[in-house]
Amino acid sequence: MAAIRNIVILTGAGVSAESGIATFRAADGLWEDHRVEDVATPEGFARDPALVQRFYDARRARLKEVVPNPAHEALARLDAEWPGELLIVTQNVDDLHERAGARRLLHMHGELKSAWCLACDKRSPWSEGLGHAPACPRCDARGQLRPDIVWFGEMPYGMATIDRALMDADLFVSIGTSGAVYPAAGFVQTARYCDARTIELNLEPSQGSASFDESRLGRAGELVPALVDELLSA
Ligand code: OAD
Repeated sequence: MAAIRNIVILTGAGVSAESGIATFRAADGLWEDHRVEDVATPEGFARDPALVQRFYDARRARLKEVVPNPAHEALARLDAEWPGELLIVTQNVDDLHERAGARRLLHMHGELKSAWCLACDKRSPWSEGLGHAPACPRCDARGQLRPDIVWFGEMPYGMATIDRALMDADLFVSIGTSGAVYPAAGFVQTARYCDARTIELNLEPSQGSASFDESRLGRAGELVPALVDELLSA
């Protein structure tokens, strides 16, 4: 791949699937037996905070049982060895990219291992449950911490950084995402508009598949290491 210097990579649930973390869009439209409106909206949280805390406490606890897979490891290697600009934008709220060693990483949909205090508006690293109304480590308020997850209707993190990186990108790669959720689903359009080459790696064609220059279908654990080898040897 000639003349590539700046790369933006978007990852979704498909990157973590081979580590044993469930993807979002199952055929029944439910997310681990819950309606998205109940567990991934501010309204759902206002209605039943205990249910939402239990839901994310279980996902956070699950992180202790899973490990990065070859796709995370390959992206960490790209991060370590790529001499140009690189931004890995993940929609995933797990910590598998960073545990594999990725550093140039942006969690646009938040992180399970972060808690947001609604009293003082500060974020704190968080590894345990939130369901027992712990005190905020910053302001000491009790019962005010919520999962630091971007829910539907909320603004994703880092959009200005992402937009700048997309505008400068020579290559945009989308990995393991269904292309169902905006703004991430629109990144391919921005990248194309700015003349980047665009590649999708996914188990099946995503909803935006036709917008990519190239679509490689298969498992992320196989496709991503191959692409990284290609990029680093070019
Ligand atoms: P989805 O569950 O919508 O899509 C996952 C995609 O990964 C699907 O297209 C699968 O075919 C593909 N896939 C599954 N296993 C794979 C594998 N081993 N290798 C490669 N691809 C595989 O997940 P996302 O697109 O990440 O938002 O979902 C986007 C957002 O919707 C999430 O970040 C979340 C959710 O609501 C928030 O929580 C705000």
